[in-house]
Amino acid sequence: MSASKSRWADDDPETEAIIAQQKREKEEKRRAKAEKQRQLEESRKAQAAAKHNDATPNPSGDKEPPMKRRRLSNEPMDAEVGQDQEKVKKETTLLRFPVRGWETCRHVDNFERLNHIEEGSYGWVSRAKDITTGEIVALKKLKLESSPDGFPVTGLREIQTLLEARHSNVVYLREVVMGNKMDDVFLVMDFFEHDLKTLLDEMREPFLPSEIKTLLQQVMGGLEFLHSQWIMHRDLKTSNLLMNNRGEIKIADFGMARYYGDPPPKLTQLVVTLWYRSPELLLGAEKYGPEIDIWSIGCIFGEMLTKEPLLQGKNEVDQVTKIFALTGPPNSTIWPGFRSLPNAKSLKIPSSSTSASSNPPLLPRSKFPFLTNAGLGLISDLLALNPASRPTARECLSHPYFREDPRPKPKEMFPTFPSKAGMEKRRRHHTPEAPKRGQEAPELDFASAFGCAPGEDSGVAGAGFTLRLG
Ligand SMILES: Nc1ncnc2c1ncn2[C@@H]1O[C@H](COP(=O)(O)OP(=O)(O)OP(=O)(O)O)[C@@H](O)[C@H]1O
Ligand SMILES: [Mg+2]
Repeated sequence: MSASKSRWADDDPETEAIIAQQKREKEEKRRAKAEKQRQLEESRKAQAAAKHNDATPNPSGDKEPPMKRRRLSNEPMDAEVGQDQEKVKKETTLLRFPVRGWETCRHVDNFERLNHIEEGSYGWVSRAKDITTGEIVALKKLKLESSPDGFPVTGLREIQTLLEARHSNVVYLREVVMGNKMDDVFLVMDFFEHDLKTLLDEMREPFLPSEIKTLLQQVMGGLEFLHSQWIMHRDLKTSNLLMNNRGEIKIADFGMARYYGDPPPKLTQLVVTLWYRSPELLLGAEKYGPEIDIWSIGCIFGEMLTKEPLLQGKNEVDQVTKIFALTGPPNSTIWPGFRSLPNAKSLKIPSSSTSASSNPPLLPRSKFPFLTNAGLGLISDLLALNPASRPTARECLSHPYFREDPRPKPKEMFPTFPSKAGMEKRRRHHTPEAPKRGQEAPELDFASAFGCAPGEDSGVAGAGFTLRLG
């Protein structure tokens, strides 16, 4: 298959390649223009700032010599007190921190809406044109609960984390624009032709192993950056990964993202869309960390390999059942302490299911027949039941899987795909929605996860152990 050939189901490959080439050239031009404008704007701001500094009045009217370091002693000599106070005064006029200035948001009328892309749980997304520059962007209107006392706080996290998350594998938030009402808030982002979910649904063949590596490596790079900034995404899934026709993939949708600390604070448990939710969250862990994102990446890796979501539970109990059917049930060797998780109390797990040659155990090879041993090792690590056994994003990046053949495919050699987002409302196969913000996690009874009806006492560990594999 040639480098930029379309793998779209019913297209004429040659026409497609020409269209794609033209699109790429157009896109390049647009980018160059935008970059030039940005640079112009920056130098204009720098000049204005320099002028402002020059114009700042100096109390004495003279040029000041460089200030001496301030005395730090707690016991200044009496005679010096007056002088010191004077110095401090002067210093306060000289010390300036690089603070971002306040600017008014532009109005959304500066954009012409071209077509609707998707409605998600937290926003409506459309493709739009910046009327001033002609650039194509994505506009996401935030769904905000109305707030009687000013700007709705829930939207602030998405904006704040996105603004901090400047990385080549995180979607670029250009600006925030407002409509007429206080809660008409729109995020203006770079536009992407695809999200990974829609693309996987539409592709006839799965990505090649070398392509999967390039994509996974980029997502890991973005995630490593987020975690280094103490940001947990908390809703990683294929529909929240955006792709363009230049082989680039970016993490998007920061609607559930938040900062975390060490030790982790008490956080809401109802996060991450069900199919990508980690076992510790499902079992009701009150404290959790960035490992929940690593689990989601494991699910995404599996989905890239098979084109199908890996663990499609119908509800929380079914999700746990499906997880354990894939990984094997937990035990206190591979996951010490899982028993103390709130929802684990109702789990009936046989004590005999302890034998595993590695920790975490390898996932069944039959599930991923075309994956190399290194690849199987990586996905097994990502989907380790015990969060402490999952590798960090940084560790994943140096995994042998990325260094063995076939090597990650260069981005410029990536195939192109016609963009649903660019033309029409997307057809989306049903997937569970992201959890609603601020809701409590329901209390769950996992007694039926291994074939025991709720309330039924299996008594001895190991009794009634039948995994529901349906
Ligand atoms: N910058 C963009 N360029 C192109 N399409 C985008 C962009 N941002 C979002 N989309 C599309 O819109 C969809 C919904 O966007 P997003 O995930 O940000 O909203 P959401 O309401 O939080 O979604 P959900 O709750 O369904 O996860 C994405 O899955 C993607 O298809
Ligand atoms: Mg989303």
